[in-house]
Amino acid sequence: MNQAAVANLEPIDVEHFTSNLERRKDIPHVSLVACMDGNVVGYGDTFLINNTPKHFGLKVQIAPEYQQLGLGQLLYQQLMDFAALHGANRIESTVQEEDIQSLNWAKKRGFTIEHHTYISTLDLANWSHDNYVAEQKRVRSLGIRFSNLGAEITGQESFRRFYDFYLPIHRDMPGMAGIPYPDYERWLYKFTKAPGYDPNGYILAIHEDRWVGYSIVSRTDKGWLNAFTGVSRDYRGRGLALPIKVAAIDYARNQGATSVYTLNHAHNDAIVKVNNKLGYHRQPGKFIVAIEKVQEALYPR
Ligand SMILES: CC(C)(COP(=O)(O)OP(=O)(O)OC[C@H]1O[C@@H](n2cnc3c(N)ncnc32)[C@H](O)[C@@H]1OP(=O)(O)O)[C@@H](O)C(=O)NCCC(=O)NCCS
Repeated sequence: MNQAAVANLEPIDVEHFTSNLERRKDIPHVSLVACMDGNVVGYGDTFLINNTPKHFGLKVQIAPEYQQLGLGQLLYQQLMDFAALHGANRIESTVQEEDIQSLNWAKKRGFTIEHHTYISTLDLANWSHDNYVAEQKRVRSLGIRFSNLGAEITGQESFRRFYDFYLPIHRDMPGMAGIPYPDYERWLYKFTKAPGYDPNGYILAIHEDRWVGYSIVSRTDKGWLNAFTGVSRDYRGRGLALPIKVAAIDYARNQGATSVYTLNHAHNDAIVKVNNKLGYHRQPGKFIVAIEKVQEALYPR
């Protein structure tokens, strides 16, 4: 199915479709197709987003030659009804940043832009660690050393320590407000069972035995991902983010990475600055759009 579409909140392919069905088998979800002329010409789904209080994701996509016939609206209405019936109080979706028509389609239905995200990639062929040695030395002179979770694990309690350290920082990322903490047991299970889980890729900045910063790098099916970087609130503004990320890049490179990619919130200024300094190049991004108070929006009194 062509990916540029008026009612195209986010494209999907067959591989994604089947893996979505598998991942969502235990949560409220529905997937719909629109058929005309003996062909599938549209697709839509909605599903409860894991660990959220009644936040649902939603996608609608119509093949270009079948747009402007009202099919997108038909799918959309049924998906919204399903989500509302299952208690949704927030529905979110994504729109490619260049796809102005789809953005207008979503806005017309009450979605507003909440975030602007993009992937950026760092080519390691011409990347030199030497350009950042001075920054790492400066941070070391503050008494900070770099290690990784694998090296710091002394027993099962180390995971609890990481959970207590990591989650409050992670919570400061744009888009995390209002999402409840996963409880420890659930988090630990998902953490250790995550595809590509490698505690040595969890780079830690440590000050006098206190963990004060992290940057996580792992191999995924799309390449090496530097997923999250964070600094404890009382250590922010001291220039720790760049040297921690350099340590994460070093780790990936030592494992054979030739490039690293990361996901940015366009308005997370500190990390965008750091990524620019490291030489990351951004790709076209997407808007996260959402409707709050779904019941009121759908069924006004
Ligand atoms: C993002 C984060 C890791 C940055 O670490 P930090 O210690 O705050 O930032 P640093 O002191 O290393 O500064 C990095 C750069 O950003 C700038 N900066 C820092 N805070 C900033 C802010 N609030 N607004 C704009 N720029 C800021 C610094 O001036 C520096 O740029 P410079 O070298 O040109 O002077 C940290 O704020 C954090 O943990 N945030 C919550 C988690 C998160 O959002 N992570 C990123 C997504 S994974």
